[in-house]
Amino acid sequence: MTWAAKPSGTRPIETRSEPWVTSAMKDRWTANLLPKYETTHGALMPVLHDFQHEVGWIPLQAMSEIAAFLDIPPGEVLDTATFYEEYHTHPVGEHIIGICQSIACEACGHQAILDHLRDRLDIEPHETTADGRFTLMALECLGACDTAPCCLVNDDRHDNLTIERLDEIIDTLPDKQS
Ligand code: FES
Repeated sequence: MTWAAKPSGTRPIETRSEPWVTSAMKDRWTANLLPKYETTHGALMPVLHDFQHEVGWIPLQAMSEIAAFLDIPPGEVLDTATFYEEYHTHPVGEHIIGICQSIACEACGHQAILDHLRDRLDIEPHETTADGRFTLMALECLGACDTAPCCLVNDDRHDNLTIERLDEIIDTLPDKQS
């Protein structure tokens, strides 16, 4: 058996002429984040969070720009952004619905909830609906095993979840485009 290597070194990076990392972001990171860490490397995760909070996801070009800002290798930014589920390396929907799939939630019926969402949204985990409204995620433990099953809808965690409750939550999500 042989391992197929990913062509990361030769993969073309989609770029645009306008930088993703703005002067305002750099000023904010310099003032608010860098002073909290002994090295610029230490600020990588909060910088990624801040960028994603503003843009919604983290393109490869932005990772390269963040690496230049922090003076660290681009590969370290890529490794971090692709290791943690909380970072999105592709555009996501207006609302992100993450169903916990770790052991407590699995034992308390997460599969039925996930299957219901698959049917309702007509997508698989890590996909976005055609109208761009929802992204479905399957997440690891949300730290609320005693109230499993749980989900994360955008930034809010919901415990003791049922299909009916989740439907109610989804039905009342605002349309961000209006
Ligand atoms: S297993 Fe789902 S919150 Fe811990």
